[in-house]
Amino acid sequence: MLAGGPSGQPALLSLLLAVVLPFFCLAISIDEARNELIKREKMMRLGGQLVLKKEEEEANGKLMTLKKAEITKAMKTQMFPPSMHFFQAKKLIEKSEVFHILKKMPKGAALHLHDFGIVDVDWLVKNVTYRPHCHVCFTPNGTLHFKFAHPTPPAPNQEDCSKWILLQQYRKELKNVTEFDNSLQKTFTLVTENPEVTYVDQNVIWTKFETIFLTISGLVHYAPVFKDYIFRGLEEFYMDNVIYLELRARLPPVYELNGETHDRKWCVKTYKEVAEAFAKDHPEFVGLKLIYSDHRSKDASLIKISVKTAMELRTDFPTTVAGFDLVGREDTGHTLYDYKEALLIPSLKGIKLPYFLHAGETDWQGTSVDGNLLDALILNSTRIGHGFALSKHPAVMEDLQKRDIPIEVCPISNQVLKLVTDLRTHPATAFMAVGYPMVISSDDPAFFGAKGLSHDFYEVFMGISGMDADLRTLKQLAINSIKYSALSPTEKKTAMKTWEKTWDKFIHDLSKK
Ligand SMILES: *[C@@H]1O[C@H](CO)[C@@H](O)[C@H](O)[C@H]1NC(C)=O
Ligand SMILES: *[C@@H]1O[C@H](CO)[C@@H](O)[C@H](O)[C@H]1NC(C)=O
Ligand SMILES: *[C@@H]1O[C@H](CO)[C@@H](O)[C@H](O)[C@H]1NC(C)=O
Ligand SMILES: *[C@@H]1O[C@H](CO)[C@@H](O)[C@H](O)[C@H]1NC(C)=O
Ligand SMILES: [Zn+2]
Repeated sequence: MLAGGPSGQPALLSLLLAVVLPFFCLAISIDEARNELIKREKMMRLGGQLVLKKEEEEANGKLMTLKKAEITKAMKTQMFPPSMHFFQAKKLIEKSEVFHILKKMPKGAALHLHDFGIVDVDWLVKNVTYRPHCHVCFTPNGTLHFKFAHPTPPAPNQEDCSKWILLQQYRKELKNVTEFDNSLQKTFTLVTENPEVTYVDQNVIWTKFETIFLTISGLVHYAPVFKDYIFRGLEEFYMDNVIYLELRARLPPVYELNGETHDRKWCVKTYKEVAEAFAKDHPEFVGLKLIYSDHRSKDASLIKISVKTAMELRTDFPTTVAGFDLVGREDTGHTLYDYKEALLIPSLKGIKLPYFLHAGETDWQGTSVDGNLLDALILNSTRIGHGFALSKHPAVMEDLQKRDIPIEVCPISNQVLKLVTDLRTHPATAFMAVGYPMVISSDDPAFFGAKGLSHDFYEVFMGISGMDADLRTLKQLAINSIKYSALSPTEKKTAMKTWEKTWDKFIHDLSKK
């Protein structure tokens, strides 16, 4: 007899409970444990501790619906832009609704940019090379040199370059000017249809990269173009909802039509004046600061001079010159350790010269170049340019985090320059997961075919931060860009206020969409 008697029922019940409960409890404890982990990781993630306002929650809901739909679709089609080369992904990215939201999003500041890598090269071709008195010559290896002069520049050495040709005249003689302009455009950027074929290794792409800087130098070092370039640079970033820029600037000799040249002080003054003029017509623009930079191919004795120059410039322009950096390819350049005497000059003299050092932009773990991360930390770098190799240096990582020194992550640059292929495997994924201090920037967007910061933000939001990262992550990145900038505490307050105002409007528009 199983049931029925008054004493039978409890027996059955306890029997049932004895069988069912362990499963039930186990199920609960797995779910609880999972939820607990999920909650903890959510809090650890970059931006995880931000509390969103009601309207932000609504906006977030809309954004996340679109993000999840795009990722789910990509899993089906296996066409996921962050896993593709940017040159091939760009068209897809620009069709994405998430991308269009990111473009409108107030992103704060762009802290890792190089002086002549920020303006769409289309402008160099269509505007700059069409100006009067623009001359070109062809080197034996097929590269171009440009020079503005009237009537003609001094003749080049025959073995260095052909005779100068006036472009205005040259274009008149051409059968197909569009074709010529397209070819110019190609020499001004890295963009190509088959990057894997064109750039078989890092040496090939870095050679072309450095050649571009050399090729356009005759154009952008011409005083009127120099000024317009700065203005256009600010404009392109402002249009992309970036309100403040810090530029690594080489401050080259800038020349006039008659061959006269200007010095570094003139360059800094010009940056300052152009930024002030720009601010007049663009009320939300916060400003521009310069990080004076020299090339790491130079001899240590020359870098000593540059460090001294940086100190002088910072004394003369304390609100415009933020500090010093070394640029160029790390793998083939001098290490920071090679330059230690030069880089210790300020601290020995008791003068403050903040460093913003590129370090760890390499795949070669354990080399002397890989050691740049150690020296950047020891030299008290204010931020770390790239820090791509940082995960291989746990002690450096720990100390940087303790001192709240951020890395400047430039995903598209890292991919184009062949440090990483699929951006889902970019080392920043792990850093974002633990909320490591970082900012996002675009390095030399013009040469990569990108604009402003939005393309890089797309790669980060869709590919690097993972499916669950939401508006909190984006908001934190924007806040970080101001927090970790070289603005003074007072300037930061003003910048943050300006940013908040535009952020609230963006949230309002997105939540009502
Ligand atoms: C280039 O742009 C400037 C404004 O930025 C304009 O004044 C000038 O006429 C343009 N020149 C050419 C050749 O398009
Ligand atoms: C091409 O030649 C120029 C001048 O002769 C030189 O400066 C440059 O480094 C060369 N570029 C390449 C890619 O060999
Ligand atoms: C000139 O070249 C462009 C680009 O290659 C091409 O699209 C165009 O048809 C050419 N025009 C003429 C007149 O040949
Ligand atoms: C870096 O900062 C530490 C702590 O403030 C200081 O002791 C050290 O001298 C600094 N080093 C340099 C190279 O400025
Ligand atoms: Zn850089």
